[in-house]
Amino acid sequence: MSKPPLTLIPAQIASAADYEAFAREHLDASAWAYLNSASADGLTAHDNLVAFSRLRLRSRVLRPMHNAHTQLTLNGIGCDHPILIAPTAYHALAHPDGERATALAAAATHTPMVVSAQSGTQIEELAQSAHPPQLWFQLYPQARREDTLALARRAQAAGARALMLTVDAPVNGIRNAEQRAEFSLPAHVRPVHLDGLPALPSHPASPGGSPLFSTGLLDSAPTWDDILWLREQVDLPLWLKGIMDPDDAVRAADSRIDGIVVSNHGGRCLDTVPATISALPAIAAALDGRIPILLDGGIRRGTDILKALALGAQAVMIGRPVLHALAVAGAQGVAHLIQILRAELEVAMALTGCATLKEVDEGVLWNAALGHDSR
Ligand code: FNR
Ligand code: LAC
Repeated sequence: MSKPPLTLIPAQIASAADYEAFAREHLDASAWAYLNSASADGLTAHDNLVAFSRLRLRSRVLRPMHNAHTQLTLNGIGCDHPILIAPTAYHALAHPDGERATALAAAATHTPMVVSAQSGTQIEELAQSAHPPQLWFQLYPQARREDTLALARRAQAAGARALMLTVDAPVNGIRNAEQRAEFSLPAHVRPVHLDGLPALPSHPASPGGSPLFSTGLLDSAPTWDDILWLREQVDLPLWLKGIMDPDDAVRAADSRIDGIVVSNHGGRCLDTVPATISALPAIAAALDGRIPILLDGGIRRGTDILKALALGAQAVMIGRPVLHALAVAGAQGVAHLIQILRAELEVAMALTGCATLKEVDEGVLWNAALGHDSR
């Protein structure tokens, strides 16, 4: 059994990593395996962290910092800071109040929350709370186009400001850690938005036959045609999540997509793809500012956020750290975590001499090859 969340945040918790350590103590092995693990050997999840830690910043002194702020606009939507809560499934595995607690923290810290298609709480319920946060909705393409559209329209009717279509997971990655921990969803946790939708059509593989391809699961996997179709149907900003290749990024922009998320699903899909921060520069160069870029995967410090913005992202999303903080101290834990990351970002901006996010560019990185002498 997981331990109940704490009502007072221990003074020892000063960073996202501290929340991770406390969460590991708090959660039972099976919930931990689902919430924290990655696919196969976890090499990509590890790289997401290591690649940030390899980048060095360039400190600058005596630059004017009056009227400093972290505001930005994304698709015309004003944001106080460049952090969003990434869509993650089943918050009730981390905390009894599930997504309701996360939404409370999101509202308190002016953080957009991307509600997962596999949320355990309806988006309508989150939207109708006394102080709702800015809500976005993530969806997976369904086997039937009209089911994807129905989900999109439902989210729009509930007040979602943007839609995020996750395109990197037509099949689950190889989840060995979950298998070893014998993870299965407890009876009280289920993906409520998918009620009534047909499961993806698949049948058991024949013994000795092709394990995936013979199941028929991929026969209904989405293609760019489905993206073009959905684009025509919805008038909310539409983002694609899970882009790791410059050609795919350009194709998204050509398909009138409003923005992309450079993401490898936190290393939970295809293991051994590169870290997102390693993939970002070529994608940003190929897009050349045509559409905005979010990045997720491995953001654990404000300096990581600064590095992502320096290499071409407009904002970042955080996944696991939110779940860790939620498990340890519920809504107040998540709000505390976000304020920690905001404070770290502001300190990093101050010490690299950037008064606004517009001033954050490759020049903040200590790397002659990236042209820091130009600043
Ligand atoms: C995820 N992620 C995810 N993505 C998505 O599009 N829909 C989803 O339902 C989920 N569910 C989910 C559950 C859990 C437990 C995790 C850890 C992740 C991926 C998520 O949105 C994001 O891409 C990564 O979590 C980012 O990496 P970090 O911040 O966890 O390192
Ligand atoms: C995951 C799915 C829900 O990463 O996206 O577990």
